[in-house]
Amino acid sequence: MRLNEHPILDFSLRRGREVTIYFEGKPVKAHEGETISMALHAAGIRVLSHSSEKHRPRGLFCAIGKCSSCLVKVNGIPNVRSCITLVEDGMRVEMQKGKEELPKTAKPPEWKDAPKFEGDVVIIGGGPAGLMAAINAADAGARVILIDEQPMLGGQLVKQTHKFFGKREQFAGVRGIKIAEILEEEARKRENIQIFLETSAVGVFQEGDEKLVIAVRKNRELLEFRGKSLVVATGAMEKMIPFENNDLPGIYGAGAIQTLMNTYGVKPGDRVLIVGAGNVGLILAYQLIQAGVEVKAIVEAMPKVGGYFVHAAKVRRLGVPILTRHTILRAEGRERVERAVVAQLDENWRPIPGTERVFDVDVIALAVGLRPSVELLHQAGCQLLYIRELGGHVVRRDERLETTISGIFVAGDTAGIEEATTAMLEGKVAGIAAALKAGVASPDWLKEIEKAQRDLEEFRSGPFGRHVLEGIKKVMIGGSE
Ligand SMILES: Cc1cc2nc3c(=O)[nH]c(=O)nc-3n(C[C@H](O)[C@H](O)[C@H](O)COP(=O)(O)OP(=O)(O)OC[C@H]3O[C@@H](n4cnc5c(N)ncnc54)[C@H](O)[C@@H]3O)c2cc1C
Ligand code: FES
Repeated sequence: MRLNEHPILDFSLRRGREVTIYFEGKPVKAHEGETISMALHAAGIRVLSHSSEKHRPRGLFCAIGKCSSCLVKVNGIPNVRSCITLVEDGMRVEMQKGKEELPKTAKPPEWKDAPKFEGDVVIIGGGPAGLMAAINAADAGARVILIDEQPMLGGQLVKQTHKFFGKREQFAGVRGIKIAEILEEEARKRENIQIFLETSAVGVFQEGDEKLVIAVRKNRELLEFRGKSLVVATGAMEKMIPFENNDLPGIYGAGAIQTLMNTYGVKPGDRVLIVGAGNVGLILAYQLIQAGVEVKAIVEAMPKVGGYFVHAAKVRRLGVPILTRHTILRAEGRERVERAVVAQLDENWRPIPGTERVFDVDVIALAVGLRPSVELLHQAGCQLLYIRELGGHVVRRDERLETTISGIFVAGDTAGIEEATTAMLEGKVAGIAAALKAGVASPDWLKEIEKAQRDLEEFRSGPFGRHVLEGIKKVMIGGSE
């Protein structure tokens, strides 16, 4: 179902011309500018494929192209991520049934024909970190190439309808969606930034003195990018937790639910159970209620709420119970979620028999944390360490965010899970450092790096920043690990 009324968002301005796609041969109305899975959800279609071995139903999970849960066949081509591929009039979409092969008549693009683009600094990821890296590298004198696999710039910001905390110069009091617009406008008005959307970077290599990035545009075109230095700001992906039937369609990462309702104006369901009472879970509960969805409860395994008091108080005032020391035991349903069973935990985190409660829900939202997306850095050969405080595996780096491979920089959630504010500041540091490394920026720009480093230090001096600082100490080149 589509959302037409929302207290903050006006979807009529965002939806493009009406078009028709065909799912399993049946026509589905869609709008230009929306992705395949969003159009299918709006039409009530949740099951997108079946797993290869046990033929279990699969649906959307992350909605940002990172989990492969939404693969479909499009015009005969398998393994298309329906969550980041835009609809086209007349497109034929079929459920994927396990492992599929390219049709014999398909003509994959030839390597020798790949168009080549060259810059001083190549940036992968157009979220707050990548956008700030691009703007600052460009201002420091670099020719910048900015690549993102989404159809729009802004990363996670495009779905944040709430106002941000922090300092005014880092957009405190401004809604995330607005911050994305401001940064995009800044990037687009700089002539020395070339932007490539719907373009997935799939490999990073060293060729002589240059970084070579191989990418695929719109699932059908190979592109080659070269730069003297590279910033990887690919963000993070949602974590999954183990429980029975955790693969049923209708179980989404919190960010996927925000993408459905805040970016594309599609109602994720009618009744939701949220797992996790950190800031993300609490904000999500509020946003679901704004969109007219019933939030049955939030369950949290810890003895107290992890997010800001102000968010928890707001959600409780709206009548949503927050059950601390509770966890989800299983999801129930045949082809999609129909119920969720939760239970209380004892001091050793074991479910207490007899405390089970059943919630009649059609959506389970997992807000249990993110892990950095380090795949490209790993493939490039950067050294990785597992750092619990930063959300998982992260790359070793120095104060200017240069990794163990000279000329490859990291910024934002890829460097460790934090917030958009720190992502923007790290983007600034990495962007300028990359321009300096490329030999195009004057040493005067060092002052701007130092300023951003001081701002980062100040931002992390709060209670939520302390554990991050512990993690950063361990991952610094020459640090304590
Ligand atoms: C519910 C929720 C609420 C939040 N609230 C706040 C808040 O109040 N204040 C705050 O400061 N922060 C908040 N955040 C956190 C903030 O949104 C993130 O920390 C921030 O967006 C991270 O920025 P980033 O640029 O590192 O990554 P992202 O925003 O995730 O951007 C990464 C980009 O990289 C692209 N990408 C990834 N892989 C590839 C590839 N292979 N090829 C091409 N492109 C690729 C992605 O498409 C994406 O656009 C919130 C997050 C959530 C989920
Ligand atoms: S890749 Fe599409 S839902 Fe995760």
